[in-house]
Amino acid sequence: ENETRDFVIDDEVIKSIFKIRSEFSHKGTYGKVNIIGGSYGKMGAAVLSTRAALKAGAGLTFTIAPKCGYEILQTSDPEAMFIEGGKDFIESFHIDETAVCGIGPGLGTHEKTAEGFLKFLKSYSKPLILDADALNIIAQNPHHLNLIPEKSIITPHPKEFERLFGKTENSFQRTVLAKDKSRELKIYIVLKDHHTQIITPEGMVFYNITGNSGLAKGGSGDILTGIVTSFLAQQYTEQEAAILGVWFHGRAAEYASEKHSKESMLPSDVINEFGNVFSVLN
Ligand code: APR
Ligand code: MG
Repeated sequence: ENETRDFVIDDEVIKSIFKIRSEFSHKGTYGKVNIIGGSYGKMGAAVLSTRAALKAGAGLTFTIAPKCGYEILQTSDPEAMFIEGGKDFIESFHIDETAVCGIGPGLGTHEKTAEGFLKFLKSYSKPLILDADALNIIAQNPHHLNLIPEKSIITPHPKEFERLFGKTENSFQRTVLAKDKSRELKIYIVLKDHHTQIITPEGMVFYNITGNSGLAKGGSGDILTGIVTSFLAQQYTEQEAAILGVWFHGRAAEYASEKHSKESMLPSDVINEFGNVFSVLN
């Protein structure tokens, strides 16, 4: 039974998902992204996530961040628009219903941020991409898990996964537990690791084999959030956005390491390789 439900993400899988950009299109065709994150001292996470969303092809990208990030973001990424959500951390989550939201990079877990985020979750029902501190806030109380909209994509690293769902001994146990939770909560779980797995509510597991240890650096996860959010905004399904996003992130990392070495490559270098990945796909 397992054999038919476990897949390696190979070139065939990617070819069947990837859609060539139509010339008969405009920015509305490629969707609206809201990246929600950043706090005093952690604006870099929101910047990286935003830039990744832009460079992965979204039509319009808005960053909801605290005021302390205004100049940083407008300077680093002029293509993105800024929406103020608080002073040094985000308090209000006013979200455009037509946008696809990626929440969490650099968000922080300030009490007021947590309060605003949980209030937002209670009123929101579209699929979201949840990462980092968004997951850490949810992990503060097991009841919060039920607030995650169906078909959302969560992207925990092993520690975040344990905070959400409890202790596990190894990646095998995490996969088993993730399959249960994915089914129960009707969400996609991206179990980030050396070989990241995407687990679907239907019990399928997609294994990713792109990427390398050059990604073992702060900021790598933040760009994955931007990529997946961008693909979801570009009309890919949740399952497609998660699979294509994880593969794409790893492939870009391979190009970055060829140029800069695994030691020296930075998440920004990975973003700068997105164009090369698209060139091969096209
Ligand atoms: N091989 C392949 N891929 C790797 C490897 C490796 N050895 N190490 C890391 N990666 C990939 C993971 O699969 C994942 O996609 O890099 C990414 C790392 O993501 P995170 O662990 O979320 O890292 P980070 O970007 O530092 O997160 C930023 O958010 O999760 C919080 O506490 C975290 O402050 C940190 C912030
Ligand atoms: Mg992270």
